[in-house]
Amino acid sequence: MRHFLTLADFSKDEILEILNIAKKLKSEVKAGKYSNILANQTLGMIFEKNSTRTRVSFETGIYQLGGYGIFLSSNDTQLGRGEPIKDTARVLSSMVDLIMMRTHAHTRLEEFAAYSSVPLINGLSDDFHPMQLLADYLTMQECGKDKNPIVAYIGDGNNMAHSWLMLAAKLGFELRIASPKDYAVDKKILKRAEEFAKISGAKIILSENPKEAIANADVVTTDTWASMGQESEKETRKAAFKDYCVDSALMSIAKSDAIFLHCLPAYRGQEVSEEVLESPQSKIFQEAENRLHAQKGVMVWLHQNR
Ligand code: CP
Ligand code: NVA
Repeated sequence: MRHFLTLADFSKDEILEILNIAKKLKSEVKAGKYSNILANQTLGMIFEKNSTRTRVSFETGIYQLGGYGIFLSSNDTQLGRGEPIKDTARVLSSMVDLIMMRTHAHTRLEEFAAYSSVPLINGLSDDFHPMQLLADYLTMQECGKDKNPIVAYIGDGNNMAHSWLMLAAKLGFELRIASPKDYAVDKKILKRAEEFAKISGAKIILSENPKEAIANADVVTTDTWASMGQESEKETRKAAFKDYCVDSALMSIAKSDAIFLHCLPAYRGQEVSEEVLESPQSKIFQEAENRLHAQKGVMVWLHQNR
């Protein structure tokens, strides 16, 4: 049995295999066909943070595959009142077939996985957001941006930046991350990605200079400057990131046919301008829809690999 906590735990072939399942399922749904691969399967979805896309894509996804999803908010469950993770994991996994969890510290997921008798999927932690990256890469494939691309990530060294590091390191493409000095990626995660990059041939370049990072890029991406849990740092971060807005001037330094991606929700006028977000280069809604298809691929793959 496998869990899906980070892309670090998956090989390039496995990542591409999951995406191939996703593509097949997407084309079937577009043709009005729904397979029942996960008939009678129940997915428990634990949310300790807010969500629009992750919740709806997992719930719709399991339903389209013939199964059933249970939304478990930490406000309503005993988890929110302090029931230990290790007890919750054993109880839930004795009843459901698959669990997705969105949480704070990544160690909460690791502890849950250690006690769970069914596969656990990371629906976002403070350190990683791997489901988003599968949707992002699926979008790159659909836009023809998966052949030796240069990806520029402009912004916070957060869960999205870390997940881009893992994707690039596993698949072997060039990733440039530009962040303000005090907001760079986690050193331990970077080191791990660099180890994988030695094998895959990925090129990872960190800087504090958005213009340098974006020059000639095929894919440009960013994320909120203040992630969930960092609300109190909003104003300090706004000041620190003021030169890191992906606006039309910055975007014009990338390749003329570069695409723009953002996991959403986006903060217009902060990490990205309204103009870039609404431009033809922006593929953000295709990307958001791909959460549904990519996650169906993950659920089917985990089921087939039990
Ligand atoms: N991108 C993403 O994970 O969105 P939600 O927070 O709405 O789930
Ligand atoms: N970095 C953001 C991503 C939201 C989908 C956060 O963690 O809030």
